[in-house]
Amino acid sequence: MESVSEKSKEITVSDRLKKLPPYLFVDLDRKKEAKLKEGADIIHLGIGDPDLPTPKFLVEAAAEALKKKEHHRYPLGKGSPELRETIAEWYQKRFAVRLDPNSEILVLIGSKEGIGHIPIALTDPGDIVLVPDPGYPPYRTGTLLAGAEPHLLPLNSKNGFLPDLTAIKGSVLKKAKLLFLNYPNNPTGAVASLDFFQETTKWAHKNSVWVAHDAAYSEMYFDPPSPSQSCGDLEASETRRPPSFLQAQGGKEIGVEFHSLSKTFNMTGWRVGWVCGNAKVISALSQVKDNYDSGVFGAIQETAIQALKFGEKAAEEMRKTYRARRETFVEGLKKLGWNVLASQSTFYIWTRTPHGWSSQETCEKLLEEASLIATPGDGFGPNGEGFIRFTLTVPEPRLQEALERLSKIK
Ligand SMILES: Cc1ncc(COP(=O)(O)O)c(C=O)c1O
Repeated sequence: MESVSEKSKEITVSDRLKKLPPYLFVDLDRKKEAKLKEGADIIHLGIGDPDLPTPKFLVEAAAEALKKKEHHRYPLGKGSPELRETIAEWYQKRFAVRLDPNSEILVLIGSKEGIGHIPIALTDPGDIVLVPDPGYPPYRTGTLLAGAEPHLLPLNSKNGFLPDLTAIKGSVLKKAKLLFLNYPNNPTGAVASLDFFQETTKWAHKNSVWVAHDAAYSEMYFDPPSPSQSCGDLEASETRRPPSFLQAQGGKEIGVEFHSLSKTFNMTGWRVGWVCGNAKVISALSQVKDNYDSGVFGAIQETAIQALKFGEKAAEEMRKTYRARRETFVEGLKKLGWNVLASQSTFYIWTRTPHGWSSQETCEKLLEEASLIATPGDGFGPNGEGFIRFTLTVPEPRLQEALERLSKIK
């Protein structure tokens, strides 16, 4: 009998994984662990996970739904017909865009799941995917895992954190198959106008590039945007809300949009979102998903229906909370001399690092000297270097305490 230690070849993991960018936060994590062990009173302004609970009426709806036998079996498919119908109604009301629930909507296990898988549905090895930098990391990692090549598009304050599509070289354009966009934007908080979506649509048609717009923060907005953002036949009073990419003429012919219940209804743990728009893309992603998962738990889909039908008041409460936190924290940071980038949306604050420190250096200092966790900007791409991101996921008194601690950092 062969000994278990005898090997015919080395057993390894996939080469694909080796293509992923290195994990940048090793030192920071180690220091965080050490601080926690010391019992430090840490203020967490790092990860984008709401501290507020899921609204009570939704928790109660879910508790009822849990008891239904039909939800105890595989959910399968594109999502329940009732949820897809409700999404179409919500979309029509919110964006004045008509969607066919059968062919243009696909329920996701949180929007991240669809974002991560869409490069598998649309690209082949050798294709290029255009990815915003800084940007939500799965645009880049999902592309690499699919075997395609990310090409980074710098976002900066000079261009309102919008990519300059005219600056992309012809040789890149030739191979480009998919463009990721994300407005309201993580990490910068920028909002795109409908004019920008209109221009992007024209560009995408001309260059035969699919557009995947991530609108996970569409309901987290605060200030009135510019008049150019007015959208179709919506009331003037409603125009301060961020537009949908699908409102652009021809948008649905060239793209899809991702949505999430995670941030709007404090439901990050529930894992439910959707993608909607171009039927060919929806069908391709659905085919990928049929081979990876078996859908969202039925009781959660039923709860999502309640959220979309009756959740507007809860969403307004959420905005009220973050608006107040935002005013407190941004004002405080500015008084301390921080160079905070202006923004109109999301619960993120994107700020330049003080004294020319690097992103990593700044976050380490904040942790060591103030027991404060923030996210280094370079974690969102090389163009995020020199910035850090604060998330407003603690109550106002803790934000005041954070400001007090920041005032002592040298
Ligand atoms: C820009 C962006 N898109 C999508 C997501 C994913 O959200 P979920 O998978 O919870 O819907 C996040 C989460 O932080 C995000 O920041």
